[in-house]
Amino acid sequence: MKTIIEPFRIKSVEPIRMTTREQRERILSEAGFNLFLVRAEDVIIDLLTDSGTSAMSSEQWAGMMRGDESYAGASSFYRFQKSVNDLTGFDHVLPTHQGRASERILFELVGGKGKVVPNNAHFDTTRANVEHSGATAVDLPIPEAAEPAVRYPFKGNMNIAALEKLIAEVGRDRIPLVMVTVTNNSSGGQPVSMENLRAVRAVCDHHKLPLFLDACRFAENAYLIKRRETRMADRPVKQIVREMFDLADGATISAKKDGLANIGGLLLLRDEAMLHRASNLLILTEGFITYGGLAGRDLEAIAQGFEEVVHEDYLAYRIRSVEYLGEKLLTAGIPIVQPSGGHAIYIDAAALCPHIPPAQFPGQAVVCGLYRIGGIRSVEIGSVMFGPPTAGKPRLELVRLAIPRRVYTQSHIDYVIEAAGELRAIHGKLRGLRMVFEPPVLRHFTSRFEEI
Ligand SMILES: Cc1ncc(COP(=O)(O)O)c(C=O)c1O
Repeated sequence: MKTIIEPFRIKSVEPIRMTTREQRERILSEAGFNLFLVRAEDVIIDLLTDSGTSAMSSEQWAGMMRGDESYAGASSFYRFQKSVNDLTGFDHVLPTHQGRASERILFELVGGKGKVVPNNAHFDTTRANVEHSGATAVDLPIPEAAEPAVRYPFKGNMNIAALEKLIAEVGRDRIPLVMVTVTNNSSGGQPVSMENLRAVRAVCDHHKLPLFLDACRFAENAYLIKRRETRMADRPVKQIVREMFDLADGATISAKKDGLANIGGLLLLRDEAMLHRASNLLILTEGFITYGGLAGRDLEAIAQGFEEVVHEDYLAYRIRSVEYLGEKLLTAGIPIVQPSGGHAIYIDAAALCPHIPPAQFPGQAVVCGLYRIGGIRSVEIGSVMFGPPTAGKPRLELVRLAIPRRVYTQSHIDYVIEAAGELRAIHGKLRGLRMVFEPPVLRHFTSRFEEI
């Protein structure tokens, strides 16, 4: 059969509250044109994030009932540890309440003033935690990542020559670790190839530097390796996942993505001394080492989620549904980052709205347009999120339509495609915005705007 169906049946449903255009106008202006400040019940299709928004399976819910809530040594922890160990081969597994808590612990240990952390592209919380420690976060993407229309299969790759140059310039002693984000969320949800991961590992070996993965979307990355890297086509996804983790000395993971869970995170380590130091920090702010800020039931949900996420029929449906949205948007004349990534489609707002300069946030104008037309919530990944572009470094002005896992059906996606078609018809009339309230960090969450 050619039709790829959702490989699940729906057992429990959650109603969507429909809103009118007039209601949405009022809601938008009350929220200061920031969709983070809109109530979820006022959203028809919520594509703000794929993080923590997955629908859980009946087996995950069954696990929730089994959750052992003992403070120390709960059986749920050991099930969680075994599931993570089976998948990644890591023996030292610390649970945290979410990905950024793992990042906070890691960079409190290895960051600090004068240190430099290279990454293919830091996610915003990773960058914030590196910088909070006093260190400098450096993005080293490949040039193709800056060209939305270029169909390079592994736009998430790290620029190996730039990594070598950085090490030569700052010296290996100032670099506590090299990080690779799979898939690369900040530049289009694009995968990193196995070949590139091996090349980064070789550089790290040469300079005796540890390699850490930001592995939130490890399964989607592995499936895209299988699909796009010819040599890897015959390998089971589970084996590719293992090969990715085998290259790393550690990893931070948000279980809210490929853990198919609504909360949770992990810090994976190989180094025993580092494990002890990390465990102390974990106990200080997250909780004891066998729960790390999570309930036993959350650990059960993650353990089961890690088993389900590497099912290849699930991944085929998952990646195809994202591709389907991308293909239809292109047909409707909406420029997007190509090829489509693992968890989201990214609209190229600068190309869609050349009449709105970066200082007036073209991405935010598209976000507001999609909400007005269809009650669709998306997120700007551009000058609102990262601040004004620095001279000589062009900034992509993107709008991310992130697809929650196992939540929406094809007709929901068709609704989004119809709304995007309407947006295309009026794109020349979209208005830029002025930021009227700017918080000091992670400003996209709480900033407020006025339309110009
Ligand atoms: C690549 C990447 N790293 C880290 C994080 C942070 O994870 P969390 O939201 O669980 O703190 C995210 C979240 O979206 C992410 O996409």
